[in-house]
Amino acid sequence: MCGIVGYIGKREKREFLLDGLKELEYRGYDSAGIAVLHQSEINYFKASGKLDNLTEKTKDFRSLGFGIGIAHTRWATHGKPTEINAHPHWGEFSFVIHNGIIENYMEIKKELQGEGVSFLSQTDSEVIVHLFEKYIKQNFTAQVAFEKTINSLKGAYAILLISKIAPESIFFAKNAVPLIVGRNAKDELFFGSSDAPLIGFADEVIYLEDGSYGWANEKEINLYKNSQKMQPNFKLLNSSKIYAQKDGFRFFMEKEIYEQSIVTSETLMGRIKDDKVFFEELSEYDFNDIEEIKICACGTSYHAALASSYLFERIAKIRCSVEIASEFRYKEPLLDKKTLFLIISQSGETADTLQALKMAKKAGLKTLAVCNVDNSSIVRISDVTILTRAGIEKGVASTKAFATQVLVLWLLSLHVARSKGKLSEDLCKTEIKALRGVPTVLKVNEELHEKLHRLSKRYLHGHGFFFIGRDIFFPLALEGALKLKEISYLHAEGYPAGEMKHGPIALADSTLFTVALMPQTLLYDKIKSNVEELSARDATILAISPKEFALADDFIKTQPYEHPMSEFFEMMVITQLLALEISVRLGNDVDMPRNLAKSVTVE
Ligand code: F6R
Repeated sequence: MCGIVGYIGKREKREFLLDGLKELEYRGYDSAGIAVLHQSEINYFKASGKLDNLTEKTKDFRSLGFGIGIAHTRWATHGKPTEINAHPHWGEFSFVIHNGIIENYMEIKKELQGEGVSFLSQTDSEVIVHLFEKYIKQNFTAQVAFEKTINSLKGAYAILLISKIAPESIFFAKNAVPLIVGRNAKDELFFGSSDAPLIGFADEVIYLEDGSYGWANEKEINLYKNSQKMQPNFKLLNSSKIYAQKDGFRFFMEKEIYEQSIVTSETLMGRIKDDKVFFEELSEYDFNDIEEIKICACGTSYHAALASSYLFERIAKIRCSVEIASEFRYKEPLLDKKTLFLIISQSGETADTLQALKMAKKAGLKTLAVCNVDNSSIVRISDVTILTRAGIEKGVASTKAFATQVLVLWLLSLHVARSKGKLSEDLCKTEIKALRGVPTVLKVNEELHEKLHRLSKRYLHGHGFFFIGRDIFFPLALEGALKLKEISYLHAEGYPAGEMKHGPIALADSTLFTVALMPQTLLYDKIKSNVEELSARDATILAISPKEFALADDFIKTQPYEHPMSEFFEMMVITQLLALEISVRLGNDVDMPRNLAKSVTVE
């Protein structure tokens, strides 16, 4: 969701800026642009669509010697994804890029228009550059003009602004949207929405705090918050770049599905000791005064939350409710200080989830985040974080992040159970054995993958898919359907199998595809009856089960695991691969599906 890159120094700027944007592609975007200020001349380029279009437009542009540059990928919020709405936006002598939403832009725009300023784009962001130039024309210095501009903005933003008035500086501001400043020993300065574009260039970085702003040049970084000068707090930047390749896979999503076995071993590492679950992160955390867990998340993370709610109640015997963050924000929820507020987010930047977390903190609840990105906004705000250790996930459709979230939450349910004295030795043994087996369950069986590839050609039409399951397999059905719709653009819904007869079964006919999750360890007979009801109405059934099922049109035989979570993880991989293969056959962009963004930093 919008990416920002900036640079100050002597390096060739076009290449660094475009490479940086490429690193941020996974966030999703629909247009891009760059501006470079070099020897008092500003060159800028914008293009709608993929970065290749911008690369083509800039192919003859080079800027050697000292200069500054800003670059942006835009994911449309206000105004269509056109070239004119792409960033940077300019005034008479300055250029700006912005990620986020300026909530009061209409007021500012009307005021500026009343003063004779004309606007080119439909974006909220363009007000920033005109406001800045207005203050410059009122004879304020560039620094004061920028400070006054930032003080006038309401909303969420990461901003970089350059101006001929101060040709050696980049002005920056951050509120509720990530922005990082990096530097190295060669006096080069870098900006980015995440670490990714800075790795290999910057040695150390500052993760800017909300409400901070300033300006930087080759010699210094001036950082302010509430008009007070702040001391920059640099942290060393990890220099590993191994995630940059697809490792021979066709798509990042495919690579990430295959990686699930390895990353879940990482997730487990050090977290099972002496046959007990151990979270170093929680060593100071007391669960005894917690009477309820409320989980808040969006999308795939919400599905992980929903699956874990069964585990928290069943294993830890603690009341657990799950909320979609965008709903929770506005429902005026009644919050009790004896509730643990659990936040789940892959990116750690999802605006709705972040806001829900802030609300819970304000209400005085203990907060715990399960997150994949260290130093992300959610990690920085929540009291404690358990990192999922999935590594960078580049495919927009989440796979390995989901697997590691579910695994962490399962571990957590055992940890809470033990802390509250609810865990019997026998149950602990069974769970630990199954937990240890997850990386093996997640090893992709190539024959199975091939079978799904062949099967996928039968599922390219029809009027829709139902994924059905019961208990923890209901959230998995939701997730399977979400994966399929995200990358195939076919209509798919997840349903609790027992709920079909209350309405959705009316849709059943031979071109309604039902993907039935039929584990042997949980409610097999119940789901079997539900599937039979659908089959009797001529629905096409793809059954996934360790038990042969005579009424299935297509059948994927799974391992006869004895633990429901082992069956869960095996079926998860099958639904992921099915979605992938259908999407490939339909010729879609698997890693960057239309209309989607990896990190949803707007409401
Ligand atoms: C689906 C997907 C999204 C995210 C959702 C929340 O494949 O990736 O549904 O799960 O946008 O994102 P995070 O987990 O980053 O808060």
